[in-house]
Amino acid sequence: MGKKVMLVFGTRPEAIKMCPLVNELKSRPGEFETVVCVTGQHREMLEQVLRVFDVEPDYDFAIMRDGQTLFDITAMVLSKLEYIFKIEKPDVVLVHGDTTTSFASALASFYLQIPVGHVEAGLRTRDIYSPWPEEFNRQAVDIVSEYYFAPTEMSRQNLLDEGKPGEKIWVTGNTGIDALETTVREGYAHPVLDWASGSRLILITAHRRENLGEPMHRMFRAIRRVMEEHPETKAVYPIHMNPAVRAAAYEELGGFDRLKIIDPLEVLDFHNFMAASHIILTDSGGIQEEAPGLGKPVLVMRDTTERPEGVAAGTLKLVGTDDRVIYEEFSKLLDDSREYERMSRASNPYGDGHASERIAEILA
Ligand code: UD1
Ligand code: UDP
Repeated sequence: MGKKVMLVFGTRPEAIKMCPLVNELKSRPGEFETVVCVTGQHREMLEQVLRVFDVEPDYDFAIMRDGQTLFDITAMVLSKLEYIFKIEKPDVVLVHGDTTTSFASALASFYLQIPVGHVEAGLRTRDIYSPWPEEFNRQAVDIVSEYYFAPTEMSRQNLLDEGKPGEKIWVTGNTGIDALETTVREGYAHPVLDWASGSRLILITAHRRENLGEPMHRMFRAIRRVMEEHPETKAVYPIHMNPAVRAAAYEELGGFDRLKIIDPLEVLDFHNFMAASHIILTDSGGIQEEAPGLGKPVLVMRDTTERPEGVAAGTLKLVGTDDRVIYEEFSKLLDDSREYERMSRASNPYGDGHASERIAEILA
């Protein structure tokens, strides 16, 4: 029997970036016994991803509640994992990125002295409140980790700067790019893209906890104002399931016939929507990694980013959440073709699509 590797994750982006690794480890049964535990921090948005990658969890804690707090998620994950870890006794636990599922899982592993492997280690803004609570989560996971799978050279350097031992850090690329390699297809069609054809397609997402409330209202108001002045645009907004996000979006964007709010897209569809879009407006982390490979300009509606590689590549621009700044930057990107050209050169700072293979090799 090979090493027992337990992967714990719970939200959409963790699933998108962990499922390629699950499938890689499962394809090597002589080397690994692979156990998948989902916390169910997300429900529908997690299930969508598991379905696409055909991953059947061994455990599902199904913890999600409407209006769940950081206390709810942390306490439930911690107590349920104590029980499961004691039964399974994994050789290593793999967690991903910076969610509260990741933090609580790393903490539970630490309490039982099980080695943690951190996939997507070393991202930093160094502002503990931005993004909140993710910057704390990722730093905390890195305190207890034994193996650091850093997506880029910059993330490796961040870990070295904190005194993490170089021999425990590997630059693997981001496993999210592994998925992107297989999803974007020539000739992809969708009724919503048919609706937008002939227009400049604007793709919108938003969900960050620190943007809930007034910042999100400001973002939406600015987007609407620009679009009202630009009849050549149509927007698609696959909306997060958080009721607080939905309420703000419907209040500010409802009844505008060139902007369609739709349910979250499956990842294959979302990647193809990105490929078809003219500009992306988002506060998401993962989308900042995927857009450079597709050469799609992204206005990042946040004050900080832990993805400076995409800014250096020219694809990402931080615009914050001030409505005047978003209005100006979004208008400029629509009106100024040189600025648009500058931001739409494809590059691959986040990997070559083989990160999962590298991680499996290192674990082996
Ligand atoms: C979480 C992560 C964030 C990550 C994001 C990805 C934390 C604290 N936050 O934030 O880092 O960027 O996921 O999307 O770990 N909901 C549903 N169905 C779903 C998913 C969510 O109804 O499938 C609703 C529920 O009412 C839930 C709310 O959304 O209470 C918020 O979900 P939660 O996971 O707490 O926060 P996110 O903003 O999704
Ligand atoms: N995504 C998706 N469907 C959507 C919107 C996004 O599959 O309707 C994907 C996107 O391609 C990226 C990931 O979800 O891989 C980003 O997740 P999210 O923005 O929820 O979280 P974050 O990356 O900010 O943690």
